[in-house]
Amino acid sequence: MTDRYQQFARSGVGRQIVRRLGLPNPTPLRRYRPGDPALNGPALVGAARGGRLLDTVHTVLKSAGIEALTEPLAAAEGAQARHAALVFDATGITTPQRLRELYEFFQPVIRSVGTCGRVVVLGTPPESAGDPRATIAQRALEGFTRSVGKELKRGATVQLVYVEPGAEAAVESTLRFLLSARSAYVDAQVIRVGTHGSPAVEPADWDRPLAGKVALVTGASRGIGASIADVLARDGAHVVALDIPAQGDELSAVANRVHGTTLQLDITAADAPARIVRHLSERHGGVDIVVHNAGITRDKTLGKLKSSAWDAVLTVNLASQLAVNDALLEAGALRENGRIIGVSSIAGIAGNVGQTNYATSKAGVIGMVDSYAPLLAERGATINAVAPGFIETKMTAAVPLFIREAGRRMNSMSQGGLPVDVAETIAWYASPGSAAVNGNVVRVCGQSLLGA
Ligand SMILES: NC(=O)c1ccc[n+]([C@@H]2O[C@H](COP(=O)([O-])OP(=O)(O)OC[C@H]3O[C@@H](n4cnc5c(N)ncnc54)[C@H](O)[C@@H]3O)[C@@H](O)[C@H]2O)c1
Repeated sequence: MTDRYQQFARSGVGRQIVRRLGLPNPTPLRRYRPGDPALNGPALVGAARGGRLLDTVHTVLKSAGIEALTEPLAAAEGAQARHAALVFDATGITTPQRLRELYEFFQPVIRSVGTCGRVVVLGTPPESAGDPRATIAQRALEGFTRSVGKELKRGATVQLVYVEPGAEAAVESTLRFLLSARSAYVDAQVIRVGTHGSPAVEPADWDRPLAGKVALVTGASRGIGASIADVLARDGAHVVALDIPAQGDELSAVANRVHGTTLQLDITAADAPARIVRHLSERHGGVDIVVHNAGITRDKTLGKLKSSAWDAVLTVNLASQLAVNDALLEAGALRENGRIIGVSSIAGIAGNVGQTNYATSKAGVIGMVDSYAPLLAERGATINAVAPGFIETKMTAAVPLFIREAGRRMNSMSQGGLPVDVAETIAWYASPGSAAVNGNVVRVCGQSLLGA
């Protein structure tokens, strides 16, 4: 749905009122269109002494066609120089004192980040940093990046990527995603790239990384699920779009649009896991990507919540997903380098009034990621989840006006995200290049204040 306030804030009169009253001024976010450059300008690259990722960063930027600068751009006459991205390898920071190197790199240039620019800090997972001082210093990076996220303006984002020693070569898909317009509404996240699982497979074509893959998307007939189907198909996958029979017409429309196929069933039915396994095995010889997007809400404060509403939400949003995972794994239907992707919610992190059932189920999705990650790594597969914040869909259009406005503005972007923002993040997890991204829960929330 349209964000009328954002339209008003961009109008002539609105612009003045917004400036005078100090109201939120949401910048229209740049979103990916096929054929767009990986980044809209040069990236300034720096590193703390002794960092181990500098060569990797240069290699990735070169392969993505991004100009890498080692010195800041000089300001043109009358106009400030703009960097499309700042990338800093902080892996060399081994003591709290040396955190000053972060300050020294960023302080002079932070105001030069362009509209919808990108800031990426690379670190070592604290638990792998070695001695206690290095652990503390690496942990401290999180506070820095989260604060930068709150200071950046004009739709710019910042992320912290912890790269396990030994996983340097596996960082490309993540860096490309975070620098590109695909990550428009992902802000101030901490992402881990590890050494588990199968080695990252560089896609033959980074614009169609999912070519030849089969993806099952549940709840695909509308909203976020339909967008996931669009984006996975755009990236080359054959999409099996699943939804309840009552959504049959809309489901067919989505499947036709993405040249995919439909599977009409209720995921809570006792025979659903077996039917899904049979369908994927018989028609496609298995599945590469499973996106558990189907979800429902039945909101009431706990004292008024009927047991049926508790059961329905927990069954759709959690129990049925576990049953499908187990059936797929037992049958060996999830192929080598497979992906399972859950859809959690910031309600599962922060909690929410009237959503004890929903938040329980969505926190359970995070538990699903934690508990299955080692198991899937053993099989050369991964499991991750997205946790969307306020996304503009029919679900959020139904929220009362005041709460809706608060949800939209209470984040660093001062606006809601779009279904495509969730879908792009899922497509990054799904990429064969993301084999080292396992066990992550990335919020797609514009750095929402809720649960931050
Ligand atoms: N919209 C948001 O702001 C937001 C925020 C956080 C998380 N989410 C999550 O994102 C996912 C998609 O949300 P949405 O806003 O697009 O919702 P939506 O209601 O528009 O779509 C959900 C889809 O799931 C399908 N579905 C429900 N029960 C099913 C079942 N038993 N079997 C098969 N399909 C079933 C529905 O028919 C529907 O097509 C959900 O898991 C939701 O909890 C949404």
